[in-house]
This record gives sequence, C-alpha cells and structure tokens, in this order.
Amino acid sequence: MKSSMMTGAYLLSTGSALPDISISNEMLSKVVNTSDEWISTRTGIKERRLISETMSIIDLAYSASNQALQKAKLHAQHLDLIIVATSSPNDLFGCASQLQAKIGATNAAAFDITAACSGFIVGLITASQFIYTGSYKTILIVGADILSQWVDWSDRNTCILFGDGAGAAILQANQKNYILGFQLNTNGFESNQLCLSYTKTSSQSYHNDLLGIKQGQFSHITMNGKEVYKFAVSKVPESITQCLNELNLSTDDISWLILHQANQRILNTVADKLNIPHYKLISNLQYYGNTSAASIPIALDEACKKGQMKNGDIIVMSGFGAGLTWGTVIIQWHS
Ligand code: UT7
Repeated sequence: MKSSMMTGAYLLSTGSALPDISISNEMLSKVVNTSDEWISTRTGIKERRLISETMSIIDLAYSASNQALQKAKLHAQHLDLIIVATSSPNDLFGCASQLQAKIGATNAAAFDITAACSGFIVGLITASQFIYTGSYKTILIVGADILSQWVDWSDRNTCILFGDGAGAAILQANQKNYILGFQLNTNGFESNQLCLSYTKTSSQSYHNDLLGIKQGQFSHITMNGKEVYKFAVSKVPESITQCLNELNLSTDDISWLILHQANQRILNTVADKLNIPHYKLISNLQYYGNTSAASIPIALDEACKKGQMKNGDIIVMSGFGAGLTWGTVIIQWHS
C-alpha cells in the first residue's frame, strides 16, 4: 500500500543461525602454520563455525528468518520485502528469491545487497527508506555469509579469521521512528586492500580465440590485514561520532555498541577511542570469528536473547570492510 506520508520504523524482532561444525584454533594449527596463542592474542577468536557439505547459505538464512518471524508472531506472507546482504550467495544472480520461496513469503519482493561486512548496515538503512516513504510496512533483512567457501585454507593471514553464519531482523512501520540516524561511506580507491576478485588468468577457464571469449573465475579472499586494521580503527570512531553529533547525542548516551565482529583488538580500540566502557561492547567473535554480513545481526540477536536490550536503550551498530565500506546506524530499542 502506497502513501506519501512519512512514517517511522522500529526493529520488531531478530533471529540467528550458525552451523553445527566448530573448528578450534588447535584444529586450524594442524592445517596452517599457526597456534591458538597467536590467533587468540591477535584476534580474540577461539573457534569458528563452518557449514557442512550438505548445507547452503539459504539453510542458514532460512533458519535465522524463521526465528525472527516466530518471535514477531508473523507469518511470512506478512512480509512486503526481503533484503539479503551477502557476498557469498549460492547464485550470482542473487539468493534472496530462494529465501523468499523457502519461507513462503509470497507477497514479498526480494533482492540481494553486496557490501561485504557492512552489508547488514546497508540493508537496514535501505529497508528503512522503503518504510519512510510508505512503500512497504514489514521488511525482513538478513545478513548471511559463508566465507569458508571462499578463503584460501593454506593462507594463515586470512583463513584463521572467518566463519559462517546468518542473522535476521524484521523492520516494521511505526508512528514513531526508532531508527534515529545513519552514516554511510565508501572509499573505492582502497578496494584492493580486501577483495574476492574475478580473474581471467586461470588456466582451467574457457578460452575461445575465434569468438574472442576469455572466461575467468573468482579467486580467494586476499587482504592486507594491517591496512584494513588501520582503516577500521580510524574510520569507525569518526563515523560513530559524526552520527552522534547529527543527533545531538554523546557517547555517554550509548547503551550498547555492536561493531562488526572482525577482531577483538579493533572492537576494544574503537570503544577506547570513544571512551565507551567495555561492558557496553557486545562481542561474540571468540565463538564465531568474523562472519562478515552476519556478524552484527547475530550479535544483536544474542544480546536480545540474553535480555540485554531494555526499552529506550540507544544501540550503535557499525559495519566496516571490503569496498572499502563503513557505516553506522543508531537505533533506539523499542519492546
Ligand atoms: O571483515 C573484514 C575486516 N577485516 C579485518 O578487520 C582484518 C583487520 N586486520 C587484522 O585483524 C589483523 O591485521 C590480522 C589479525 C589479520 C593480523 O594481525 P597483525 O597483528 O596485523 O599481524 P601481521 O599481519 O602484522 O603479522 C605479524 C606476524 C607476521 O610475521 P613476521 O613478518 O612478523 O615474522 C606474520 O607472518 O605474524 C605472522 N602471522 C601469523 N603467525 C601465526 C600472520 N598470520 C599468522 C597466523 N599465525 N595465523
């Protein structure tokens, strides 16, 4: 139903799903030259979850979405739109439509968003715009990634970091707006610092000189860890500060800080730069590693399940990663 009236939005419910297979640092140290000591002290990660051979990204997204729907006491047919933020779809044409079919959201449009570890933030902001214009009332946003399928398992610089997972949130129209503000940024000049590139150099790819065709394939994740680290600890605090200033809020007003779960040292440094005490910092990367677009909605859902969010709490969520992209959403909890 369309309307020209501006309306508000709030987060109605959340859900999350993680694969059962857990890989500890000790197990990884049998695959690459690393140790539990190195991984724990440099990243805070102790284990990560990986999908099984028979599981797909859609299974994870389905299970997270069902949880969010059940918590909201909604049927999938109530959904107007589904946004899946992922950089590891099982179909390059998009995987949101498969999720739409699997949950039976027959009245919903569905599309993917690719923004790597900032994906959930971009998805949430996109969803809120559809609600503000009155185009849609109930939107499911899913952050899901299975980067285990894309890391080079012989590269100790990257393979120790990532895990698989999915998180979901339902955003619904409301008279009052609880999505207080946002801030988004992109610096494409530094895109080479973290990529999963399509290359035409593979010898296994199809070449045809007559037709002038040279097909390639996607390679593995490559990352300049040091540069991405420096980027995150300098740009994320700036983004949060700018967003707070626009809302006339101070860091003291923040109840919870949910950052993309990339590295515990990044989380701590960002909190310290903003003078935010660590008890307000939500962290689960010890258990799951970096789950890319899924990390923020999983952390949000776990905090909700623990009963940490209270009515009126101010929650700051920031994502950052490949692109390079980074951004912040500030919401007020409404239960
Ligand atoms: O979601 C996307 C966002 N991504 C990120 O936020 C990643 C940001 N970057 C990081 O989190 C960190 O840079 C890493 C965890 C990736 C690396 O930590 P670091 O403290 O920056 O280590 P480094 O790359 O400077 O490497 C230090 C040493 C090197 O050895 P030398 O040259 O000093 O002899 C590396 O070869 O540690 C070595 N190293 C390892 N040693 C054991 C690198 N990886 C490993 C490993 N195990 N897995």
